[in-house]
Amino acid sequence: MSLAGAIDAALEASVVGSFTRVGYGVRRRLEHWGPPARLDGRVALVTGATSGLGLAYARGLAALGARTHLVARDPARLEAVRASLVEATGNREIESWVADLASPRAVAALAHELAGGIACLDVLIHNAGAIAPARALLDGVETTVAVQLLAPYLLTEALRGALGAGAPGRVVLVASGGMYAEPFDLERLAGSGGPYDGVRTYARVKRAQVVLARAWAHRWPAEEVAVVALHPGWVDTPGLERSLPVFRRVLGPLLRRPDQGADTGLWFAGAPGAAALSGSFLFDRRPRATERLARTRSLDPRGDEERLLGWLGGLAAGPGGR
Ligand SMILES: NC(=O)c1ccc[n+]([C@@H]2O[C@H](COP(=O)([O-])OP(=O)(O)OC[C@H]3O[C@@H](n4cnc5c(N)ncnc54)[C@H](OP(=O)(O)O)[C@@H]3O)[C@@H](O)[C@H]2O)c1
Repeated sequence: MSLAGAIDAALEASVVGSFTRVGYGVRRRLEHWGPPARLDGRVALVTGATSGLGLAYARGLAALGARTHLVARDPARLEAVRASLVEATGNREIESWVADLASPRAVAALAHELAGGIACLDVLIHNAGAIAPARALLDGVETTVAVQLLAPYLLTEALRGALGAGAPGRVVLVASGGMYAEPFDLERLAGSGGPYDGVRTYARVKRAQVVLARAWAHRWPAEEVAVVALHPGWVDTPGLERSLPVFRRVLGPLLRRPDQGADTGLWFAGAPGAAALSGSFLFDRRPRATERLARTRSLDPRGDEERLLGWLGGLAAGPGGR
């Protein structure tokens, strides 16, 4: 193992050293990371573009030259972000789409509109997400599931043709290291019984995003569409401040900046070897293990993928079709 590899492994084992800006800084220097590749002439779409990591992805994509589509739920904030990005990057090809991703009906409508409006899509970043403080249902689907699993499913399936239309398409699911705490458990994801635990539900959904990335990677030729899930690290964002205030206070300046958290996704968007990474869970520009605890290991990973796709397909059809 190289020195850089040995230091990377030691950092990864430390968790805190790895997930904070310490890990980012050490790896960037050790591995001589260059800036992400230019995306001139490419088309990209990012959800949750009004805050935190999504804003950093949007800024990065626009600055790299991509025609950039932004999706968010608040029209006024979205327009303010769009205008500020045009001014900051000089890229005038930035377009906005409004939808509440917690509403499967709204997402289905958006998917239809996008599929009609975007013939060729190179990069699709499913970033929108949050820890829900309480169980909430919209159109019969729990919010965390709706925003972070069903919306990516509906949008990606609707845009599948556009994704393979030009240069190989790339799909990113912004998952989380929080998924290491939970096994894939479809019954619990789908279930409504018992008291609601927002953090565990979030971790289960993030685990399912990793399974979903692998499921698509197994179904689709990587030269047409490469799909990954990733962990951005622990990043100082409005969402983190809202959901985990104590965690934020304790880690303080060790948290990554949003642009540091967005680095791996932006790198993957233009990386030459993206096809070889399809199906993997990326962190700091490398595929990482998807299990750290024996109790989270699946006995039937391929079965999990099929069951998840089947379940999401059923939700997408809705009670009577959406
Ligand atoms: N920060 C971290 O340390 C960290 C670590 C691991 C993973 N992540 C993941 O990174 C992603 C971004 O998180 P963040 O920390 O940047 O949080 P954030 O600052 O709260 O940004 C989340 C974005 O998602 C949008 N969003 C949430 N619910 C939505 C809905 N129903 N419809 C449309 N948009 C919606 C938000 O829109 P509004 O502004 O309108 O609410 C916001 O733009 C999430 O998937 C999160 O799970 C973050």
